[in-house]
Amino acid sequence: MELKDKIVVITGGTKGLGKALALEFEQSGAKVIVSSRQGNDTENYIKADVRNENEVQSLAKTVIDKYGRIDIWINNAGIWLPHAPVEEIDMKRVHDMVEVNLFGTMYGAKAAIIQMRKQNFGTIINILSTSALEGRAGISGYGASKFAAMGFTQAIRKEVEEAGIKVVSIYPGGMQTNFFDEKQPANYQKYMDPQEVASKIVQNLQKDIPEEELIIKRPTA
Ligand SMILES: NC(=O)c1ccc[n+]([C@@H]2O[C@H](COP(=O)([O-])OP(=O)(O)OC[C@H]3O[C@@H](n4cnc5c(N)ncnc54)[C@H](OP(=O)(O)O)[C@@H]3O)[C@@H](O)[C@H]2O)c1
Repeated sequence: MELKDKIVVITGGTKGLGKALALEFEQSGAKVIVSSRQGNDTENYIKADVRNENEVQSLAKTVIDKYGRIDIWINNAGIWLPHAPVEEIDMKRVHDMVEVNLFGTMYGAKAAIIQMRKQNFGTIINILSTSALEGRAGISGYGASKFAAMGFTQAIRKEVEEAGIKVVSIYPGGMQTNFFDEKQPANYQKYMDPQEVASKIVQNLQKDIPEEELIIKRPTA
């Protein structure tokens, strides 16, 4: 896909992977609109808490009113909880994490698909995690949110393919981002640079036939 002049929406596009993606798309000539819980409601940065469906719909409406279409919608906003065995988890925090990682992705995809069906084109990219591919001790809540988001993503891909809408799943391994501000994992220094991951995501999209299920693991040395 040629990215020049494409209208790209990135939820959680102000830090980490989302910010790196915004830079990569801008360098390819795309018009990028980012959102986060903060937002400053400028042209390119809109407040939209992905836990709130109305705010996500309003984000889509703002972009459509201004640009008339959405070419690419990236459900990137996500949160994390420090490692803990299940019996020590604060379930209120897990609930909030599921609101962001699962429901935020569902609200975003729904808002994008409503518009993309009218257009008969569009690409949705859901940022999942390698934690959606295997259960890992210490992150049962996070893993559950990402497994669920993966199931949702694979289901909507089948729903919308007839309408010319592509759905791409990305499974990154560990990246050095603000995700771990509360507590860094022990091997954090070995985590990937989010810019390298963003570059691979954009390169995949530029292929004639992008991979629908792209795993980006950190190199093992
Ligand atoms: N870092 C990793 O090792 C890793 C590995 C695999 C997958 N991932 C996935 O990659 C994605 C990005 O994570 P990251 O590592 O780049 O994290 P990050 O540096 O913490 O950035 C997260 C972004 O999401 C926004 N955000 C958080 N809660 C939000 C909400 N309720 N509504 C709207 N925006 C919200 C944040 O902005 P505000 O806080 O200002 O709202 C920020 O822009 C997530 O889906 C994560 O699960 C990360």
